[in-house]
This record gives sequence, structure tokens and C-alpha cells, in this order.
Amino acid sequence: MSGNLIEVRGVSKSFGGVVANKGVSIDVAEGGITGLIGPNGSGKTTLFNSIVGYHPIDEGSIQFKGREISKLRVPEIARLGLLRTFQQTRIYSKMDCMKNMLISVSHRDEGLGTMFGSMRDRETEEFAEELLEFVGLYQKRFLIAGELSFGQQKLLEFAMALMNRPEVLLLDEPTAGINPTLINGLIDRLKRANEQFGITLFVIEHNMRVIMNLADRISCLAHGELLATGTPDEIQNDPRVVDAYLGAH
Ligand SMILES: Nc1ncnc2c1ncn2[C@@H]1O[C@H](COP(=O)(O)OP(=O)(O)OP(=O)(O)O)[C@@H](O)[C@H]1O
Ligand SMILES: [Mg+2]
Repeated sequence: MSGNLIEVRGVSKSFGGVVANKGVSIDVAEGGITGLIGPNGSGKTTLFNSIVGYHPIDEGSIQFKGREISKLRVPEIARLGLLRTFQQTRIYSKMDCMKNMLISVSHRDEGLGTMFGSMRDRETEEFAEELLEFVGLYQKRFLIAGELSFGQQKLLEFAMALMNRPEVLLLDEPTAGINPTLINGLIDRLKRANEQFGITLFVIEHNMRVIMNLADRISCLAHGELLATGTPDEIQNDPRVVDAYLGAH
């Protein structure tokens, strides 16, 4: 084993005439927190979509635990333990938090028979409660999700992803739009999910303070291509990265 859970090699993806990713190669180390940065439109979300099987890639290879997954689709990849959250939060805004948690469990265990059904349901509910406690939403578990603040909705979405016990979680801008005072709490939860639950994280983030504090390795995309990969220190001091950001903002 190389120590990488995900290996992206030479991946290209175009939409009509728009080249969103071009020859991108990135490793996601097992047990670590890998960051992905880059100006708006540099192809970060496209790369996530390619990894989770949302759309086929044009060229290249994507391996998860040494297995080629670039021809698989979303449900098959999710079953392998690779999940993502979205830039625009996807929760069921008319349901309460508990229902959101329960509905987000994949149904891979269905068909095992009904004898243990109710016991399994109770275990699932307890796990949902534990996770809501973990993200600080336990008191709000019967509140309609649409009435939560945006930051709390992001925490709920994170907890919903954890319901499926992922091995790797891809987070697309987890702190975007969150009140600065809630951001530290979220960073803390992400680190604990990594350290205590052993979940490998791959995180897209625009907030430099957040990603420098969170990730142990960071890759930077610009115009769909990989510009640099390194430690937070190396990336922060890389003139190409600084230029890409200053040029775009
Ligand atoms: N489904 C699509 N159809 C057409 N063009 C697309 C599609 N998805 C992405 N693109 C284009 O691909 C390029 C990369 O977009 P992408 O969303 O991956 O960037 P991003 O780095 O995630 O940007 P942001 O930081 O704004 O979220 C952009 O030019 C975008 O308009
Ligand atoms: Mg994006």
C-alpha cells in the first residue's frame, strides 16, 4: 500500500469547450486531512464530482484503496465508503433534524431480515443522537431543519454524512457562509472526526486561515491544472499560489 486512500492521476474533464480539469494528479493520504484550494472556477468542485462518480471523466485514472473507481457511479462509490458534502447544503428543510439523520442512512443493510429490524432502528436512532450531540445540535433534534441557521445546517449536513460511517469524506467548502464565531467549532469537529473516528478528510476551502490550520497537505488548482502541492507552510509561501489568488481576487 502506498499510504494513499485516493490517487488521482492525469484526470481531465471538459464541459463542451470549458476545460474544468486538465491532467490533475493528487494523492489523499490515509488518515490525514488533505486540502484543496484554488480561485473560483479553478475546477475544485469538478474534481470532487469526478471522484465520487457524479460524472464520467474524459481522461486519467482515479483509484480508491488501489481499485480503479473512475468507471463507477455515485451509489457504488458511496458503498465503498467514499462520501461527499455539497457546496450548497442539501438537507430536507421541512423535516426535523432527527428525520434528516435517519433518512440519510444508506440502505445497504436492507434485506437482512426483519427479525432484528426494530433493534437496528433503535441503534440507528441512538447513533443519530450521538452524532447530533457531537455537532452540538442535540437540543435542536426535533426542530425543523429549515429553521436552523445556515451554520447549523452545515453542521447537520456534516452529521448526516457521518451517519454512513464513511472511510473518506469529501467536504466542499464546509465553512462557507458560516459566522466566524462558529467556524472554530466546526474546525474542531472536523479534526475530531479525523482523529477520533479515523475518517480521512479531503476538504475544499476558500478560507486560508481555516485550511492552513486544518490540513496536513494542500494542493492548489488554477485554471483546472494542479499548480502546487505541499505542506501548509510551503503552499502559503509559494509565489505561484500567491499570484493565482491575487490575480483572481
Ligand atoms: N456542469 C457543468 N456544465 C458546464 N460547465 C461547468 C459545469 N460544472 C463546472 N463547469 C465549469 O467548469 C469550471 C470549473 O468549475 P468548478 O465548479 O469545478 O470550480 P470551483 O473551483 O469549484 O469554483 P468555486 O470556487 O467558485 O466553487 C468553471 O468554468 C465552471 O463554469
Ligand atoms: Mg466549487
